Amino acid sequence: MSDRLGIPVRILGTGKYVPERVLSNFDLEKVVDTTDEWITTRTGIKERRISEGELTSDLAYKAGLEAIEDAGLKAEEIDMILVATNSPDTIFPGVAPKVQNLLGAVNAGACDIQAGCTGCVYALSMAFAGIGSGMWKNVLVIGAEVLSRIIDWSDRNTCVLFGDGAGAMVISAGKGGGCLFAAELRADGSKSDFIKLPAGLVERPASHETVDNREHFVQMKGNEVFKFVNKVLPSFLDEVCEKAQLSSEEIDWWIFHQANMRIIEGVLKRTKQPKEKAVINLDKYGNTSAASVFLAFHDAIKDGRIKKGDKVLITSFGAGMTYGAVIFSL
Ligand code: ACO
Repeated sequence: MSDRLGIPVRILGTGKYVPERVLSNFDLEKVVDTTDEWITTRTGIKERRISEGELTSDLAYKAGLEAIEDAGLKAEEIDMILVATNSPDTIFPGVAPKVQNLLGAVNAGACDIQAGCTGCVYALSMAFAGIGSGMWKNVLVIGAEVLSRIIDWSDRNTCVLFGDGAGAMVISAGKGGGCLFAAELRADGSKSDFIKLPAGLVERPASHETVDNREHFVQMKGNEVFKFVNKVLPSFLDEVCEKAQLSSEEIDWWIFHQANMRIIEGVLKRTKQPKEKAVINLDKYGNTSAASVFLAFHDAIKDGRIKKGDKVLITSFGAGMTYGAVIFSL
């Protein structure tokens, strides 16, 4: 029996904001023991944006405002704001209520979703589910990060990978637009030590020791993440396509988490899809964590690559470990 979702949803608008400051691989050569050649060949990243004083809520607000304007809606018409982030200004209050206030979205609920880089796909799925159930009409989904503030700039294993940025989508109910074919979310908590920010909360409250040990910065077993993702992602995406009753060939656009070009190429090769079907911007922005797929989606909509009627697959993976994918048409 079919479990294809077929929920009518419309992507009404998109938005994006990245800080002005560009940090190139060559700039990083002066900060840690690395080279442009190493970063380019191992990841595909050439440069990233770094916030100079702007908070995650500032980036999220700017991307969200553009998405609402693009959608042709007023802020009062938004009934839910979901912000996927791993670098909130503070754990509480969340980023989303701040954005709600800045936008003047007086009729909206607002909360953060924290699920590693996959927070974007979790937030998207929740928006689709809330719309499909009739609970919400217009949902603003944002991915926003200022990871540069919680990166250890003396650790070459992590500092070369990440960048700051925000992307947003307004998703709405109603026929005549696109359709959600499948949404699938997964987690493997047995791998929770692969990516972590160890201290500063309940398990290891801030102390002189945690500061001395640099435990308030992101720590990652990059190689373990790489192996895990290469193992689970290809068969998982096959499963999601099957659930959507679409072959890989029928997917027009593959929007991957912009973490590593080698991971993206590996999945495309295994699914026998041409590189041209993938939207890539990690060379310009690095890994912007929960924002990355929103930035890529926005860029490809605005430059005319993604068109009405196209079928889009968005997938991500991240701390937890979590992973997920959604397939929808415009
Ligand atoms: N410059 C130069 N050399 C480096 C650097 C650097 N920036 N970083 C590591 N190296 C060295 C290592 O020390 C190691 O040296 P050794 O062999 O002498 O020990 C060598 O390069 C190889 O290191 P590996 O870790 O094996 O390199 P790998 O090919 O796995 O690439 C990378 C590392 C890019 C981190 C890769 O593993 C990766 O992309 N992993 C996935 C990370 C990811 O996608 N995270 C996303 C989730 S993030 C989130 O949820 C917040």
